[in-house]
Parts: sequence; structure tokens; C-alpha cells
Amino acid sequence: MECSKAKVQIDTSTGKLTGEDVSKSTRQLKHLQGIFEDQAAYEAMNPETIVYEVEMHDKETLGTEGGLLFGTSYIYPGKVGKEYFMTKGHFHQKRNRAEYYWGIQGHGVLLFMSETGEVTAEEVLPCSLHYIQGYTAHRLVNIGEDVLAVGACWPSDAGHDYADILERGFSKKVRERNGVPFIE
Ligand SMILES: [Fe+2]
Repeated sequence: MECSKAKVQIDTSTGKLTGEDVSKSTRQLKHLQGIFEDQAAYEAMNPETIVYEVEMHDKETLGTEGGLLFGTSYIYPGKVGKEYFMTKGHFHQKRNRAEYYWGIQGHGVLLFMSETGEVTAEEVLPCSLHYIQGYTAHRLVNIGEDVLAVGACWPSDAGHDYADILERGFSKKVRERNGVPFIE
């Protein structure tokens, strides 16, 4: 039997994707207005600072029912005031769509928030696996000194609803207090 080489490769030690249909998006501080609570600290920082990047294998067109998307997120270490660098966080546009995350490198926190605002959290470490149920917003926070790399797989018709989180935020924050992270 002939066996062709896969069109995409993943470096399982870093999460890095290379090959066909791989795209990358970058979120700098200037793209994250209103996400961090300390506005003065936010404005004092270089707006070009990269907070996180997402590599995606987007073989399916966004919105395709029945398909899957796959990606790696890299959240860089840093803080705005006392708040650690984190992703914008989102509900899925199709609220019932679930997602898997898994830890690859670094040390983080995954925040989950229900539609009624209850927040729970799981520690993200290399090899940790996280199931995000439908109707649940999710946000990654880097509480470590190194890059936090997290893999993800989600339905291609899930979509992202960032507006809800931008408006009301997460009801719990991850802040540094006396040198250690606190969820409060
Ligand atoms: Fe998601």
C-alpha cells in the first residue's frame, strides 16, 4: 500500500504546526482594549507587545457544519498591572458547541464561565486535558515565566462570540498577589 506523507506536521513538544492550510493570527496589546482592568497600566505599555498568537489548521471553512478545526495558542508571559496576560475569552456563537484544550508547554489557568456568570478554573500543565462543555465561555491565562502553549480542537461551525465577554468580562480575575497567582 502506498502511504503519502501527511500535509501538516505538529511538533508535539511545542505545538508548532507547519504545512498546508496553516495560518497564524497575532494579538497585540493594542487589540485587547478593554480586556484588562488596569487601564493606566495598559496605556503605559507598548501597544505593539504581543500577548498571544494562534496557529490554526483551517482545512474547513469557518461555519461548516460537521467539520473540525485544530490549533495551538501561545500565550506569552507578562502582566498588565497585577493581571496576567490572557486571551480575550469567548463563548461560542453556537452556544452548544464544545471544545477540547490540552496543555503542551508552560503553566496556566483555564477559566470557564457559565452563561449565568459562575466561574470555575483548571490548572493547565503539559499533558493536562480540558473538556469545555457547550454554553461555557473559556479564557487562558499564563501564570508562568515561559510561554504557555495549549492545543485545541473545536467544531468548525462553533464561531466566536467575543462581544459578550468584552461587555461583562469574566466574573473572576487571575491576579498576582505577593508574587503568587490568585483567582478572585
Ligand atoms: Fe472556543
